[in-house]
Amino acid sequence: MAYKISLIHGPNLNLLGKREPAHYGTVTLGEIDARMARLAEERGVQLRTFQSNSEGALVDAVQDAAGWADGIVINPGAYGHYSYALRDALAAANLPTVEVHLSNIHAREEFRHKTVTAPVVTGCVAGLGWRSYECGLVALVGILQDKGRP
Ligand code: DQA
Repeated sequence: MAYKISLIHGPNLNLLGKREPAHYGTVTLGEIDARMARLAEERGVQLRTFQSNSEGALVDAVQDAAGWADGIVINPGAYGHYSYALRDALAAANLPTVEVHLSNIHAREEFRHKTVTAPVVTGCVAGLGWRSYECGLVALVGILQDKGRP
């Protein structure tokens, strides 16, 4: 049976490709989604992808994932730094979840060093550019496979 994974992108990530390329690279969100779709197919994963700039829509997406998915890969964008609503949604979903960031948030401004979402997810990947997503998905599939073992 294929694992179902929800891939959620937060605010301003729709601008990838032209947004601050020194931090985020030149790969567009469409290209990341295409790479993730290919990877998901290779691993036999059913992937649903969603992006929003709105906090409430992201909370809804996490709640939807809780009713459908086996796990979540999320780049919360700036909301990760301060959205208790998103943190609470992830905690309530209680699914294996990998938080990803394209940039190395620990090497940037101090307000980016911490995310309020990190304590309620399984783990985080940061600083690997679009490959953070790839690592997040591969790790999540491994975690789901481990869980399935007797
Ligand atoms: C980001 C890092 C955040 O600090 C920032 O607000 C983003 C993108 C990243 O992927 O590196 O929007 O999540």
